[in-house]
Amino acid sequence: MLKVAFIGWRGMVGSVLMDRMRAEGGFNDFEPLFASTSQAGQAGPDIGKPVPPLADAHDTALLADMDIIVTCQGGDYTKKVYPELRGRGWKGFWIDASSALRMEDDSIIVLDPVNRDVIEKALAGGVKNFIGGNCTVSLMLMAAGGLFENNLVEWMSSMTYQAASGSGAKNMRELVAQMKSISSSAAALIDDPGSAILEIDRRVIDTMRGSDFPVEHFGVPLAGSLIPWIDSPMESGQTREEWKGFAETNKILQTRSPIPIDGICVRIGAMRSHSQAIAVKLTKDVPVDEITDMIASANEWVQVVPNTKEETIAGLTPAAVSGTLAVPVGRIRKMNMGPEYLSLFTVGDQLLWGAAEPIRRMFNIAVQHLG
Ligand code: HSE
Repeated sequence: MLKVAFIGWRGMVGSVLMDRMRAEGGFNDFEPLFASTSQAGQAGPDIGKPVPPLADAHDTALLADMDIIVTCQGGDYTKKVYPELRGRGWKGFWIDASSALRMEDDSIIVLDPVNRDVIEKALAGGVKNFIGGNCTVSLMLMAAGGLFENNLVEWMSSMTYQAASGSGAKNMRELVAQMKSISSSAAALIDDPGSAILEIDRRVIDTMRGSDFPVEHFGVPLAGSLIPWIDSPMESGQTREEWKGFAETNKILQTRSPIPIDGICVRIGAMRSHSQAIAVKLTKDVPVDEITDMIASANEWVQVVPNTKEETIAGLTPAAVSGTLAVPVGRIRKMNMGPEYLSLFTVGDQLLWGAAEPIRRMFNIAVQHLG
């Protein structure tokens, strides 16, 4: 039976992965080993069958016995353990949610509803490293894959509205703590229907600017505000998150000549669903109904939302999408710039299609391949 080690399964992305695997009955066809960087020897998780005590995730001699390693432990772990393992001559599959190996020549970025052909070719060619993509890129491609598939994208601009979860669990907590601090400061005034709105506004902004406001992780207020900067600076003036839009999309699709993609990535006060306002310069003028069909038929999770107020506000929001695998795409229309310019808006759960789901599915593909 195949031997599989899971690492980082207790963190935020790892927990979502475990939940999805439990939901899909995904622990049956292999012998799982759960490893930990800090709690080796403790009891393993409940997966409906007995599992050995937690292994030491730094024990490369043990890991080198695995056919597949699935890690959601993060980039620092990958950078430390992966070279040691390959240095031991390990030839197994490395399936990783972190970005550490994403742009390496011997890695494939996995998003099988979009690039199954690339994955199959890589498997046939002996590639062993399969890495989850940046969440924003994966969610954009789940939404707009039909346009790329039909060679309709000359260039794309994606302006993002990214949830707190993309920065990590502590940031999600901080966002809610900020909301709590704001609502406590204005609670009495909110409860009084006769209170003045400008007084409420003054209390709120004073609280947000006050020294007690919780900003340890974001550095500044996110609740009641936004942060137009995600990740580190690049020489181009982009942030690394913005750079990934171009670099990773083209790597996922293995485009022959790179398609320009750019935009501004912005953190907003949503919990776990990223949204994107996308503008596309089409390679040719195609009617909107045909474009809509291409988008809708690209995969089974994309859902076209009709361009009406009622349906947009009901279905095309983080509040509607969070915790689901649906990738709604709406506001589809031609822009004032001309018939070859298309706009659309999409929302997707950053922890599901943005992180855990491509990894879970790649794991299944690897199991089938080895089985
Ligand atoms: N970098 C993304 C973000 C999440 O900050 O929202 C991970 O892909």
